[in-house]
Amino acid sequence: MAEVVLTGLGKAYGDGTRAVTDLNLEIRDGEFLVLVGPSGCGKTTALRMIAGLEQITEGTIHIGENVVNDVPSRDRDVAMVFQSYALYPHLNVYDNIAFGLTLRKLAKKEIDHRVREVADVLELTEHLDRKPRNLSGGQRQRVAMGRAIVRAPQAFLMDEPLSNLDAKLRVQMRAQIARIQREIGVTTVYVTHDQTEAMTLGDRVAVMRRGVLQQVGPPQELYDRPVNLFVAGFIGSPGMNLVSAKLDEDSGGRFWVSLGSDALLLPESVPQQRPALRQYVGRDVVVGIRPEDMEDTALADAREGEILHSVADLVEAMGSDVLVHFPVDVPPVVTDDTRELAKDAGTDDLPKAGKGTVLVGRFSPRTRIYEGQPVAAWVDTSRLHFFDPATGSSIWKQELQ
Ligand SMILES: Nc1ncnc2c1ncn2[C@@H]1O[C@H](COP(=O)(O)OP(=O)(O)O)[C@@H](O)[C@H]1O
Ligand SMILES: [Mg+2]
Repeated sequence: MAEVVLTGLGKAYGDGTRAVTDLNLEIRDGEFLVLVGPSGCGKTTALRMIAGLEQITEGTIHIGENVVNDVPSRDRDVAMVFQSYALYPHLNVYDNIAFGLTLRKLAKKEIDHRVREVADVLELTEHLDRKPRNLSGGQRQRVAMGRAIVRAPQAFLMDEPLSNLDAKLRVQMRAQIARIQREIGVTTVYVTHDQTEAMTLGDRVAVMRRGVLQQVGPPQELYDRPVNLFVAGFIGSPGMNLVSAKLDEDSGGRFWVSLGSDALLLPESVPQQRPALRQYVGRDVVVGIRPEDMEDTALADAREGEILHSVADLVEAMGSDVLVHFPVDVPPVVTDDTRELAKDAGTDDLPKAGKGTVLVGRFSPRTRIYEGQPVAAWVDTSRLHFFDPATGSSIWKQELQ
């Protein structure tokens, strides 16, 4: 096991495509780091550079003490699991797992010990005699992982290993991968475009956009304090509601944001936590509201300046909660970031200017709101997010440019 350190890592392909730019990441010994971002943002390229399967254009890669830039892949002592995993169909599970060790001519006894240990962790012990064709998709994926783990690599690299499995199996395998990684404690870099997978698996999550690292941190930190509109919109499902709103200060020194015919009053804690907000008084800001930070007013202890009024467009009962979609009369936020997020989500249906913005609230299942009926949505104003409309950066302490 070892730490993996990327310093100023960059990749330009021969045809001039810039896939990764100045990537700096320290993956600690034993850590589970998830690299996440939309398709094409450079995740696979970054992983393949760590694995030694892709030439580095700029920067350095350390694995443990060593700079491995010029070390061939087979000598880097890393194991990689891809989304398409080829098992040897004529070999049983035992021999599939043992294959790499047999090649390296380890003693039979040592091989046997390691294979059985790995099979135990992967819950494959009862299947050691089976051929791949007699295994389920999840079992096959575990055999593929077994083949990688059994070599006891310094680091484990996984590129969307679950994307060929159906949704239910993906959730099961996710839990198993997390458990297995904890048990074997190998430094792991896991690539996915699925933010739910990223949030549930990672000790830390690194979000990439167009080859550039946006933010890296524990899942909850990314969720609570996204550094920009892109991370805010990418992490969380349904996504954060984003609206343009004017920030005002009243004669009592209180801050308000106007959303159509309603206005939200910001509790004192907001400008205290985000002192730079003061510089935006009288100007437009982007306000972010997580769906779960709203509730049916009938079920909340709402006060003045905490309610949005509208009519329900769509009500989706999810069992554990109810998603209520309602329009507010404010311009939608359309930036490079939101356009890219919409494209990634496959919903290029960004609201047209002049038609307002549809918000989604995640309400308690006890709500009695129906489609076509009035909505009074309580907003937890202490949890609002604010972004600079020009740069998309989160407004915290930074000075205006
Ligand atoms: N061999 C290659 N030659 C040229 N461009 C490539 C090659 N492989 C990937 N790319 C481009 O590099 C960018 C990053 O790709 P990739 O690392 O595969 O992203 P991801 O894994 O995040 O989907 C994309 O624009 C992709 O089209
Ligand atoms: Mg990829």
